[in-house]
Amino acid sequence: MPLSRPGDVTLEKSPAYFVTEAAPARVWRMNTSIQLILILRDPVDRVVSDYAQHVHRRVSKELPPKPIESLVLTRNGDGRVNPNAKMVQTSLYHRHLRRWLRYFKPDQIHLVDGDRLVSQPHSELKQVEDFLGLKRHIRPEHFVFNATKGFYCLAPSVSSGRGKKRRQRCLGSEKGRRHPSVANSTLTALRHFFAGHDERLVQLTGRTFDWMRRNAQQFGEE
Ligand SMILES: *[C@@H]1O[C@H](CO)[C@@H](O)[C@H](O)[C@H]1NC(C)=O
Ligand SMILES: *[C@@H]1O[C@H](CO)[C@@H](O)[C@H](O)[C@H]1NC(C)=O
Ligand SMILES: *[C@@H]1O[C@H](CO)[C@@H](O)[C@H](O)[C@H]1NC(C)=O
Repeated sequence: MPLSRPGDVTLEKSPAYFVTEAAPARVWRMNTSIQLILILRDPVDRVVSDYAQHVHRRVSKELPPKPIESLVLTRNGDGRVNPNAKMVQTSLYHRHLRRWLRYFKPDQIHLVDGDRLVSQPHSELKQVEDFLGLKRHIRPEHFVFNATKGFYCLAPSVSSGRGKKRRQRCLGSEKGRRHPSVANSTLTALRHFFAGHDERLVQLTGRTFDWMRRNAQQFGEE
């Protein structure tokens, strides 16, 4: 963590902490009262986003991407999801969160709905301000929808533009990449698999996310 002065709120981020076995104990030993923010999105979208990264990495090395089926399904061709596949494991949110809850109290962990963070950034960030005990500074007009990017960006009025003309600030090109198209049967297998894990996350967090409602409509009857 960088040095901070009294009254500063210092933030550090990494997607790897959440899934790293040793991370909760290490963080706890550093500071037992630290506040943690976890951004969760539709676990299937997260897998496909992970796969988009794979495609990008392979293509940039001039290697052919592997088919997503070889990375997330079992090898015997029955079309089922391989629960031990790395991309699948990362999306098993309840399993990782349970490990953090062995060290931290639930009220130390704030869950951000990652899908809403994209579609309604202001309302999600307002909740983060409240969780951190900050004064509410962020306002709806601080975000503008950029149709080229397909995402909200920071409005020029809040972008730092020292000496330069103030411009919209968007996340980099590595964010919000177009997802590769994935066969419906593979998406259905993934949705079916993760629907079975949604309930455990609800039990653990008391929160229902929009993706769970979509999954429940599709698979709830089975
Ligand atoms: C631990 O984090 C809290 C903020 O969450 C802070 O107030 C406190 O000073 C920190 N303690 C140490 C030992 O760094
Ligand atoms: C929208 O985003 C694109 C890509 O990040 C950027 O080039 C463009 O300047 C943005 N539009 C505006 C109006 O700032
Ligand atoms: C895949 O599913 C989408 C949405 O349900 C549908 O519009 C599309 O026709 C399907 N494609 C194939 C190849 O079945």
